[in-house]
Amino acid sequence: MERRHLAECGSTNTEALAHLRDGGGPLIISASRQTAGRGRLGRAWQSDDAALTFSVARSFPTELDLAGLSLAVGCTVADVLDPGGGRIRLKWPNDLFLDGAKLGGILIETVPLAGERRGVVIGIGLNLQPLPADADRAAFASGHAALQTLDPTVTAVATLDRLAPALQALLADFASLGFAPWQPAFARRDLAVDQRVRVGEQPGIARGVSERGELLLETATGLLPMSGGELSLRLETRL
Ligand code: BTN
Repeated sequence: MERRHLAECGSTNTEALAHLRDGGGPLIISASRQTAGRGRLGRAWQSDDAALTFSVARSFPTELDLAGLSLAVGCTVADVLDPGGGRIRLKWPNDLFLDGAKLGGILIETVPLAGERRGVVIGIGLNLQPLPADADRAAFASGHAALQTLDPTVTAVATLDRLAPALQALLADFASLGFAPWQPAFARRDLAVDQRVRVGEQPGIARGVSERGELLLETATGLLPMSGGELSLRLETRL
C-alpha cells in the first residue's frame, strides 16, 4: 500500500477522501500536524507531533456492511500495541483506552465511487506523549493516556511501521469476512461489558456486541441492538 507523510495538513481524513474521489488507490497518509483534525460527532481532534495521526484509504464494494469496521480496527491496533492484552481496552464504537483513560480514537468516513464501490477512510489518532503540565485537562472528558507509558522509546514512525501491515491485512480480511471473526477479540477488550451505560439518551446495561458489531443494550423492554453511526456510549460509573 502506498504511504505518504505530510509535515502539516488540515486533516489526513480530508486528504484521503480527496485522494479516493480523484480515483486514487489504497493509501496510508500521515501528518506531523493537523490544523483541522476531526473527531466523531463533529468534535475537533487536536494533534501535533505528540500524537500519531494517520488515515488508511481504500475502496470496498458498496454492499459490504461497515457496521463493525471501527471495532475490528480497534482490535487490530490494540493487538499490535498491547499483544499481552492486559492494558488497552476498547470502548464501543471507536475509542481506545489505556489504563482507564483515552489513548486514541477512530473516525471512519466514506465517499461514493463509480462502479458500485465505496471509498472508505479510516482515520486514527493515538496519543504518543503525555499532556504538558500546563495543558487544560478539563478539555479531555475521557482523560488522556499516552503510548509512551507502554513503550518509553515510542515514536510516530515506528508505531506506524508496526500498524500499517496489520491494518492492511485486516482490511483484506474484513472485505471477505465482515466483522464476525473479530467478535471474540472485541469481547476480550470490551471496556463497557456488563456496565451501566447510556447510548445516546437510552440507558441500559452493555452486554457485548453482535456479529455485526452492534452494541447489545439490555433495557427494560429487552435486548436492543444499537448501531454505531452517530451514537456514543457513556459509562454511568467512573472507571
Ligand atoms: C474520535 O475519538 O472522535 C476520533 C478521532 C480520530 C482522529 C483522527 S487523527 C487522523 C484522522 N484525521 C482526522 O481529521 N481525524 C482522524
